[in-house]
Amino acid sequence: MKTMWEGRFAQSADPTFYQWQRSFLYDRRLLGEELAASSAYAEALARAGVLTAAEHDAILSGLAQIGERARSDPAYLESDAEDIHHFVELRLVEHVGKMGSKLHTGRSRNEQIATDLRLFVRKQVDGFRRQLGEWNEALLSRAEELDDAVLPGYTHGQRAEVILGAHWLLAYTEMFFRDADRLADCRRRTDVLPLGSGALAGSYVPLDRDQLARKLGFSAASANSLDATSDRDFVLEFLFTLSSIGLHLSRWAHEAALFATTEFGFLDLPDAYATGSSALPQKKNPDALELIRAKAGRIFAACTSLFISLKALPLGYSKDLQEDKEPLFDACDTMTAALKIATGFLRTVRFNTERMRQAAEASFLNAAAAAAYLTRRGVPFRDAHDRVGRLVQHCLDRGIGLEDPTLEELRRFSPEFGQDIYAHLSLDAVLAAHDVHGGTAPARVKSALAEAHARLAQLKENCNAAA
Ligand code: ARG
Repeated sequence: MKTMWEGRFAQSADPTFYQWQRSFLYDRRLLGEELAASSAYAEALARAGVLTAAEHDAILSGLAQIGERARSDPAYLESDAEDIHHFVELRLVEHVGKMGSKLHTGRSRNEQIATDLRLFVRKQVDGFRRQLGEWNEALLSRAEELDDAVLPGYTHGQRAEVILGAHWLLAYTEMFFRDADRLADCRRRTDVLPLGSGALAGSYVPLDRDQLARKLGFSAASANSLDATSDRDFVLEFLFTLSSIGLHLSRWAHEAALFATTEFGFLDLPDAYATGSSALPQKKNPDALELIRAKAGRIFAACTSLFISLKALPLGYSKDLQEDKEPLFDACDTMTAALKIATGFLRTVRFNTERMRQAAEASFLNAAAAAAYLTRRGVPFRDAHDRVGRLVQHCLDRGIGLEDPTLEELRRFSPEFGQDIYAHLSLDAVLAAHDVHGGTAPARVKSALAEAHARLAQLKENCNAAA
C-alpha cells in the first residue's frame, strides 16, 4: 500500500502497526462528507488559480464517480487505505490520473477530518431533533388520550399527591424539549468551517474561506487555525446532549417498567415490545425498557471516553483525536435505535386507568387539601399539618379514608372543619386546587398541552428549515 507520506521514510511501517493505526474501517462512514468537502475545496482551489478549469472539472467528476461507485458496489470500498482521506485520494488518482493529487494542495487531513466531522455532527443533530419531535409527539398524543385519568405522583418513591396522567407525561416532554434546545445550541457551535486551516497554521493557498463556508452551508469560517484543527468541543457537546437524552429516556423507561409490574399495574406491556422467558411460561418481560435504560450507560461512556482522550491534549492535531470517531458513531447508532424503540413502545402501551385511579384514591392523597382547608380557616399551617396528621393516623387505625369520618369525628381533631370539607376532599377537588401555572389542575394541564403543541410545531418547523 502506497501511503501518503512514505517519501521521508527509509523503511515501511510494521504491518501490524500499520493495520492498527488505520481508521478507514470506521471512518469510511464519512465518505459523503469527505466528497462534499473535497468538491468544495476543488472549487476554492480553482478560484485561487491552483487548478485550471479543466482540472477542476475532472476532479469534480472523479469525486462524483467515487460516490456513485461506492453506492453501487460495496466491494469498491474494500481498501487498505489508511483513512477516508487516503481512500478518496487513491480512488481519485485511479479515476483521473496523477493530477488528482493536486486536490491536496494547501490542504491537510487535520482540517479535513475536522470538517467532515462537523458536517457529520450537524446532520446527526438535525436527525435527532426530528426524532425527538416524533417522540414528543407520541408523548403528547398519549397525554391527550389520558384525558381526565389520574395517578399518584410520588416523592421518595411514596405516593404523595394526585396528578393528571397528562401532567405526568408532560413532565417528560419538558425534558425532551430541553434536549432539542441543547441540540440546537450545539448545532450553532458545530456550524463553523475548519477547512482552510491547513495542518495547523492556515493554508498556504490564498483561499476564499468565506466562500468555502457558504458552499458547504456553514455559517462562518473558523477564527483560529490552531484551534480549528484540534477542537472537538462540538463532538463533546453533542455526546453530552445524547447523554442527556439517554438519561431522560432511562428515567422514563425505568418508571414505565416499574408501572408495568403487577404491584403497580398502571401499564400493560405491549406484546410487540416485550419478550418471554425460556423457563417460566407465565412471564412477559419489559426488555425494550430495560435495554433503553441500559443503553444510556453506553452513551455516557462515549462522552466520557472523548473527555478522557481530550484531557491535557496539547494544541495542534494529535492522533489521539482519531479516537473520537468510534464512540461518536456508536452513540449515534445506539440513540437512533433507542428512540425508535421507545417511540414504538409508547405508541402501543396500554394505560390501566382504573388501577391508576384506585392507587390515587387509596392513599390519603387529599391530606394536604385538608390541611389547606384549615389554613383558610385561620389555623396556622404547622398546627393544621399536625391535626391532619393525627387524623390520618386515626383513619389508618380504622382502615378508612380521610373522607369517611363523620363531621363530629373530624371536629374532634380540629373544630374548624365544616360540612363543606367533604367537597374539598374529592380527587377532582384536590386536582383543581393545584391551580397555578405549571400545576396539575385540569385547566392548567389543558393549557400546558396547547403550549406543548405550539412548541412541537415550532420544533418541526425548525427541523424542516434545517433540512
Ligand atoms: N484518520 C485521522 C483521524 O481520524 C485523520 C487525520 C490524520 N492526520 C494526520 N496528520 N495523521 O483523526
